[in-house]
Order: sequence, then C-alpha cells, then structure tokens
Amino acid sequence: MMFLLVVFLLLHFVGQTCTAVCQPKASCNECLRSPGCAWCKMQDFLKEGESNERRCDSLESLKTRMCEGNIINKKADMIHVKDVKLNNNPENVVQLKPQSIEVKLRVGEPYEFNVEFSRAEGYPIDLYYLMDLSYSMKDDLEKIKNLGQDILTTLQKVTRNVRIGFGSFVDKEMLPYVSQVKSRRRSPCPNNLDSCEPAFTFHNVLPLTSRADEFKAEVSKQKISGNLDSPEAGLDAIMQAAVCQKKINWGNETRILVYTSDDTFHMAGDGRLAGIFQPHDGQCHLKRDGSYDGTSFDYPSIGHLSRVLQANNIQLIFAVTEKSVPAYKALSALIPQSVVGVLEDDSSNVVQLISEAYGNLSSTLLLEQDHTPTGLQVSYQSYCRSGEHSEWQHRGECTGIKFNEKVEFKVRLNASVCLKEPEKFEIRMQGISEVLKVTVETLCDCDCEKLENSELCSRRGTLICGVCSCNEGYLGKDCSCEHQSDMNSTNTMLKKCRLKEDSQVCSGYGICECGRCLCNSQYNGQYCQCNDDSCERNDNKICNGQGRCECGICNCNGNYTGSACACSTNKSMCANKHGILCSGNGECKCNGCVCKADFMGEDCSQFAPSCSTYIPCVDCTVKSAKTCSVLCESMELIHLKGNHELKCSHEGIIFDVTRKENGKILIKYADLPQSIDKTTVIIGTSVSAIILIGIVIIIIYKVLLELYDLREYRNFVKAQEETKWKETQNPLFQEATTTVLNPLHSQD
Ligand SMILES: *[C@@H]1O[C@H](CO)[C@@H](O)[C@H](O)[C@H]1NC(C)=O
Ligand SMILES: *[C@@H]1O[C@H](CO)[C@@H](O)[C@H](O)[C@H]1NC(C)=O
Ligand SMILES: *[C@@H]1O[C@H](CO)[C@@H](O)[C@H](O)[C@H]1NC(C)=O
Ligand SMILES: *[C@@H]1O[C@H](CO)[C@@H](O)[C@H](O)[C@H]1NC(C)=O
Repeated sequence: MMFLLVVFLLLHFVGQTCTAVCQPKASCNECLRSPGCAWCKMQDFLKEGESNERRCDSLESLKTRMCEGNIINKKADMIHVKDVKLNNNPENVVQLKPQSIEVKLRVGEPYEFNVEFSRAEGYPIDLYYLMDLSYSMKDDLEKIKNLGQDILTTLQKVTRNVRIGFGSFVDKEMLPYVSQVKSRRRSPCPNNLDSCEPAFTFHNVLPLTSRADEFKAEVSKQKISGNLDSPEAGLDAIMQAAVCQKKINWGNETRILVYTSDDTFHMAGDGRLAGIFQPHDGQCHLKRDGSYDGTSFDYPSIGHLSRVLQANNIQLIFAVTEKSVPAYKALSALIPQSVVGVLEDDSSNVVQLISEAYGNLSSTLLLEQDHTPTGLQVSYQSYCRSGEHSEWQHRGECTGIKFNEKVEFKVRLNASVCLKEPEKFEIRMQGISEVLKVTVETLCDCDCEKLENSELCSRRGTLICGVCSCNEGYLGKDCSCEHQSDMNSTNTMLKKCRLKEDSQVCSGYGICECGRCLCNSQYNGQYCQCNDDSCERNDNKICNGQGRCECGICNCNGNYTGSACACSTNKSMCANKHGILCSGNGECKCNGCVCKADFMGEDCSQFAPSCSTYIPCVDCTVKSAKTCSVLCESMELIHLKGNHELKCSHEGIIFDVTRKENGKILIKYADLPQSIDKTTVIIGTSVSAIILIGIVIIIIYKVLLELYDLREYRNFVKAQEETKWKETQNPLFQEATTTVLNPLHSQD
C-alpha cells in the first residue's frame, strides 16, 4: 500500500515537472503568457454563466470541449538564419554550428536547441609573450632572446600559421613602487649596471609577427629594469595587451597570451599607495612608441580583466616560478580559459610549458553566452561523449576533447517575463572567435483582429478574440446592458441572479452583472449552480473521459453508458471462450457479467451451488416432508450407500449438488455415518488428558508443600518450648562494668 502511494506520488511529481498546468486567465494575451494555456476565440463557446476565464485552458481540454479550429495557441519556434555545416578545411574553417538563429518562445515554457562544435586542427595561433623585466628576471631575459624560434617551431607542429609578439612590464614609475631618487630612477637596479633601464609599466615591444628573426632582434635590445616592491604591474600589462587590438595586431585566430613572472602582482586598490584613485577604464592607452605609463589609472580589478579577456577571446598562460604559483593558481581560478605552469628559475622550460598549456587549453571546451538578457534563463547540457550528458548548467563544459572531435551541447532558453523587444545575445566557445548569434522573442500577444461595433457585441463594443470589449457605459457579455447606478434597478438585477428568492446571488459562485451571472472558473449555468468538475469519476477521469460533464451529470459518448460513462456498450468482454455472453448463466452489465444464483467466475462458467438452496429439495424428496417447489422438479437424486464425505449436511443426511452436461441438477446423498468423527475423538481425548495431567500435578505439588510447612512449624514450636533463658545467659544482656588488665602490672 505504502509502496503504491510512493509510486503514485512520484508519477504525479514527474508529471507536473514535465508539462506546465494551465492557470486560466481572463484575457487572450494573459492566457498566452501563462504556460500550458491556449485560448478559444469561438463566439458561442461559453456555456450560460461561464466567465471568459473558461476560454483559457490546455489545448487538449479545449479540443474535448469542442473548440477545434478556433484555438489560439502559439508554439515556440526557431529559424536558422545561418546554419553552415562544420568544416575543418583550413581554407574555410567552421567550428561552431549553427551561426545565427531566431527563437520565438512562450513565457515559462523552456525551449531547447542543439549546438555543435568541433575544434579544427591547424587553426592559426597568435601568441603574445608578456615578460616581467624586473631585476630578478635578469637571467631569464638572456634565455628568452633565443626563444622566439623555438616557440615558433614547436607551435608549427600543431598549426601552419603562427605569429608571435613580445611585451614587457615592470611597475608604475611612482613612489612607493619605484624609487624617485634621480640616479636611482635612471638606473633602478641594485648594483649600478650600465644595462639597466628606467622602470616602466608596460611596453609593447614587438606586435605580432610571423618572423622569428624580428623577435630575436627586438628582444635582444631589451634591458633589465628594477623596482622597489616585489609585486609588479602584471595586470596592467595584461589589460593593455588585451584591449589594444590594433597595436598588438591580434588576428581573428586562437589568441594566446603567455605571462611570465617570478613574483606576484598589484591589484585594484594598490594604486592608492601612489595616490591614484581613478579605476581603470578598460581602454587602450598605448603611446605612439608602444609604452603605457599607467600613472593616471589604478591597477585593473581581476573581474574586469576576466571580462575583457573573455570578450576578446584571449587565453592566458601563466608561466610563473614555483614560489608564486599559489598566487597565480588563485588568480587563474577567477579567469576562465587560463592555466598556470611552473617556470624554471631561468625560464629554460618555457617552450615545453607553452605547448603543454596550449594542449590543455585546447582540450577544454567552455560554451557560454556573452550576456544574459533580463528575464531570460540560459542553461546548457553537454554531450561530450556519446551516451553521456551533464546536468543543466550555466555553461557547457567538456574536457579532454581532441582536435576535430565533434561535441554537442543542448541549450535551453526559458523566459520568465515577456520581452518588450527582441533580445540579442551571442553564444561562443571560449577562445574561439566564431559566435552563434541568438535573437529571442517572446510570444505574448494573440494578435486577434478587432471588429469594432460588432453585431455580436450589440454594436456597442469591439470584438477581440471572441470577447466583447464594451464601449463606455455598457456592460455584459454582449454589451447588452446599460450601466445603471440607482438602488432600485440594482435590486431587480440582483433578483435575476438568484435561483430562488432566498438563495445566494449566483449561488455564491459568481458575480451578478446586469442580471446575468458571471461564474467563477469551475462553475456555470444561469445561476452558477452547475460545476463541471463535480461529475462522477471513473479511473480518476471525469465521466471516465468518455463523456462531457454537464451541470453535474455525465453526457456520455455514443458507446458508453452509466452515471460515470464507465460502462461500454461493447459486450465482447462478457463473452466466454465459445462467444456466449456470460456462458448463458448471467447478464452482461457494465463491462462485466452479473451471474445468476449458483454461478461464479468472470464469464459465469463455474457452478458453485450453495447448500441452503437445495435443502428444501432434499427435504421434500428424500424425507417427503413438504410438497416440492418448482425448482426441485427437474432434479435427479441418487442415493449412495456406505460412508461418503459430502459437502452439505442436513438433519442426518449429507449431500452434494453437481450439474450434468445437459444442465440438469444432480443431487447425490447419503446417510450421515453414525460413528463419531475420529479426529474429534483424538483431539478431544488429548485435550482432556493434558488438562487432567495438569490438575494432578498441581494437586500433588500443593500436598507436598503443605506437608513440608507442617513439619517446619512443628520443629519451631518444639524449639521454642526447649529454650528457657536465664537472665544472665540472655545473649542480649550486657554487663555495665568493664575490666581492663594493666599490661605493666601483669609483667611485674
Ligand atoms: C576579424 O573579424 C571581424 C569581425 O568578424 C572583422 O571585422 C575583422 O576584419 C577581422 N579581422 C581580421 C584580421 O581578419
Ligand atoms: C595540463 O594538464 C595536465 C593534466 O590535467 C596537468 O597535469 C598539467 O599540469 C597541465 N599543464 C599546464 C601547463 O596547465
Ligand atoms: C522556466 O521559467 C519558469 C518561470 O520563471 C519556471 O517556473 C520554470 O520552472 C522554468 N522551467 C525550467 C525548466 O527551468
Ligand atoms: C462506437 O463503436 C463502434 C464500433 O466499435 C465504432 O465504429 C464507433 O465509432 C463508436 N462510436 C463512438 C462515438 O465512439
């Protein structure tokens, strides 16, 4: 029972989450905004007294209520504006499909569509190398000079087309970051090296180029610099490298920013130390010579930086020395599409690190929208490997994906409000410049034609979606009633809304408008006395789903009868295997047989006589006691000799009733055997024996106990008589004097 209940609840719950249950609304527009609802615009759809809310119902329900052809039900829909197939041919790469769609959806009804992605191999790479030039990176600089060619060669293994650029950073040239003493400013390194440059915030040394020799030439000119504190202006440099698209010369390919440093970074708010309060504006501020002095803006915040990198599709590789890894791991966690690698103290492993990190970045797919319009919910389900998919998440995510491997994502849009205008947003794979443009519209209006001064509204109103919108001063379903304000006419009106003199206005289930009842949702009828939900149910369906409920009474469809339309007129289920209804022993009523007396079973084929029916027959024929009734006339009786076990018994006779092939009743009878039933004897004797033995044991025990008690008592009396204490012998008596022997005295 409990189990069934649980199953039922579960089914119920699942059912509810799958389909929205229509919450009826009184106007067509509102109805369409309610999930799971459709509107019937048929003029004479409503029954007497039904309110306009009854026009708003689930589609199936409206169909069964005979509104076919007049239903307004807008369905969610999608148009593929651009839907080019995936292609990994380097000439014409398409990695994301579709590319542009237009979706129309209903409020509160989620809409889902598919997005495919496959990362093309050999997609061009732009790599910008951003290097910390503070004094501690002195040895690294030497290595980097010769690195350009190595990086190019390594990356050319994954793609034909690689470009490389170089930028450097130290810190804002202000106190307390950089010393302002003149000589120190000129050469901020600890031991006055000639090759020490004044500090700077960021310098775009070499915009992206495919020439390794240029890289070597430009990087060779770089000199080490220095600053006072350990954190550097790394975030400032990343920001400029990201936003100065033209000056860095970013292309529309995979963009990678490699950040190398051996120390931590200044963050938003640190600028206050130097008296800079202006937050970073996210603009490019590179001067003509490629430098950024950074003295007017504070360091950028991590959130700001993360957004800028995402918007510009830049993937970040932090190549940092062991001791600053924890700081950059924390930073990387806040920046999507970034990884941290451990750099040797002299940057010797940087090429290997870049190629590994590029592999890691490429094998992770993150699908996300650039922004979410208010009132819209976007969620993703990732089908990374066949047969598996993730839960609904705020972004699509797959890891360990190889080049040219196709993955699919399901995107679900769910509008919670009507959007005033079509909303646009973009869905993109992080680090990939291709986007899917999505335009979303909500289906919130019925767009019915308006018939002004319609005949159906008594020429006093406008007919919209089957409902009259009455002109000023008129009321009623068909605007037939003039608005009245005096008491007298109000009372006459109210009278018309009462079933009887003393009953409630509209039976208490509606309001009276111009002498006509407008009933609450479930009710109808001239006085709202009817409830279409009140009909009998079968199988938890009103009228068994085979009829219409009209004012509490089921009006069944052709082939069904009964108060709940539960009885099919089809009698085939009453037939036995020979096709005879109820085996001729009953009547077919409401999908089943009603058997005659003495017959049983679904098709009344089993003969199961009751003894009492035949007692009179036995009485009259065997004992000739009374005259026989008609029932007994067609019977055959057989007398059996000897002992028999027969089912029925009656006054010294036992008998059995059977039915012969031809339908005749046969009664076999015998005399009740005189001997007493053996089992009764056995049971009776054993029970009485047990009781008897029990009683005997109890008596013996009682007697023994009595004897023992008597003996004990006698002993006691005897002992009492023998005991005659003298006063001094009384063990309770104690002498009042105490004699103490002096031990010394006795020694004497
Ligand atoms: C990159 O794409 C944008 C927009 O898709 C386009 O306007 C621009 O010309 C492209 N740039 C390059 C270098 O291909
Ligand atoms: C690349 O991924 C592997 C496995 O997840 C990890 O061990 C390694 O540290 C990652 N390398 C970089 C540079 O992120
Ligand atoms: C869609 O949005 C509606 C209204 O905001 C909400 O009730 C419903 O649960 C959402 N459906 C899904 C599947 O998220
Ligand atoms: C009633 O049953 C007959 C035969 O089974 C069928 O042809 C007919 O369509 C049914 N009528 C209705 C109203 O369902």
